[in-house]
Amino acid sequence: SLTVYISVGLTGTKSGCGGGGCGACTVMISKYDVIQKKILHFSANACLVPICMLHGAAVITVEGIGNSHTRIHPVQEQIAKAHGSQCGFCTPGMVMSMYTLLRNHPEPSMDQLQEALAGNLCRCTGYRPIIDGCKTFCKESACCQNGREGICCLDEDNSCSSSSPDAVKDVTNLYYIL
Ligand code: FES
Ligand code: FES
Repeated sequence: SLTVYISVGLTGTKSGCGGGGCGACTVMISKYDVIQKKILHFSANACLVPICMLHGAAVITVEGIGNSHTRIHPVQEQIAKAHGSQCGFCTPGMVMSMYTLLRNHPEPSMDQLQEALAGNLCRCTGYRPIIDGCKTFCKESACCQNGREGICCLDEDNSCSSSSPDAVKDVTNLYYIL
């Protein structure tokens, strides 16, 4: 599978269940669609992708979007600022699912966000801080961005007030999807 192929030298992508159930191995695959005449981006569980399916495709792993030596990607930064990573095992998969969503929808809705992360499991955080970090990219958000001209409190000293009723509802919905 693609997981085995990329694990030689690239250790960011994690292997959890090995059967498409946890999302720890999520990568982004890009392919040119001859009918639509454009490049399509989609997230995929690398553990389920045979190498032979990737002829003519580009694969981006979590190493390809940012790192602590050069510059981390805004998705990585926002998840870190929201304390959305504890053991960190799910984080590369979460990051790549979110990165793919942003490639396709630069300002996603909360529904699109929840759908994008529905295949990624986390055993540590309870999802709330992950959603808090990711929803800062959403056009409409229950985050502090509302009414503050797009300035997120995660960029300030005080952390986001995630205890608003809307935020609780959003996280609860994610549980149902998962
Ligand atoms: S390792 Fe769990 S989905 Fe691939
Ligand atoms: S941070 Fe540990 S599994 Fe998500």
